[in-house]
Amino acid sequence: MTARHKPAAPAHAEVPRHIAIIMDGNGRWAKRRLMPRVAGHHKGVEALRGVIRACAERGVAHLTVFAFSSENWRRPPEEVTLLMELFMRALENEVARLHQNDIRFRVVGDLSGFSERIQTLIRDAEARTRDNTRLTLTVAANYGGRWDIVQAVKKLMLSGVAPGAVNEASLAEQLSLADLPEPDLFIRTGGEQRISNFLLWQLAYTELYFTDTLWPDFDSDALDAAIASYRRRERRFGRTSEQVQDTRGAAG
Ligand code: IPE
Ligand code: IPE
Ligand code: MG
Repeated sequence: MTARHKPAAPAHAEVPRHIAIIMDGNGRWAKRRLMPRVAGHHKGVEALRGVIRACAERGVAHLTVFAFSSENWRRPPEEVTLLMELFMRALENEVARLHQNDIRFRVVGDLSGFSERIQTLIRDAEARTRDNTRLTLTVAANYGGRWDIVQAVKKLMLSGVAPGAVNEASLAEQLSLADLPEPDLFIRTGGEQRISNFLLWQLAYTELYFTDTLWPDFDSDALDAAIASYRRRERRFGRTSEQVQDTRGAAG
């Protein structure tokens, strides 16, 4: 990673290493403009492009976004079909640009729910970008936090591990995001204040940030506002404020 890649990066500790986002509000964005919901999803892809760029510029190492939940199959079939087409188009059109920008792309979720074509595009994109190091972009698609924990338990059991050897670390190793640090900052756009079955395990100590801004309107200024809020937080991980400040003093 060269300095040229992150011109405006503030000091390391001030930037969340891993940001996780529920990109919500596309439908309402479109509805307010008397447009079909899918127009909001199209705008949402544009917003994501901008946020990926902004994260890379700010030195964020990992960005994980919720694109389609395991519950989103419950939507009207026309919307699901259009979302799948959009996902496919994005895979076809965006991956070259991600690769040029040294971004590693991957998808987590139950991929068996997608068409063969989409699965192939995903595998190809992951293979092509696997050695990129500037930013890891993880797209959660047909993902559910509960699904993730269940599939992790299944893998553990299949490995023949003894119940006594099961602990938080061994279970966490089997989760979809096992190789990433846990998110420092969680952002949900669109005004709802809920997790909607996103990263249940990994958000245990993540700082949560909710904004009414609809996802298609979420730009780099909105991202900076979220990061500024994150910087004002004191992450105690169960300790007292005094302990945290003592440690800080000792470290710096
Ligand atoms: C988020 O926007 C995108 C997906 C869930 C695919 P929504 O489509 O949920 O937008 P709202 O919440 O209806 O406004
Ligand atoms: C969560 O948004 C999933 C994604 C953004 C992909 P939803 O719009 O599906 O969440 P709920 O149904 O309002 O909780
Ligand atoms: Mg929604």
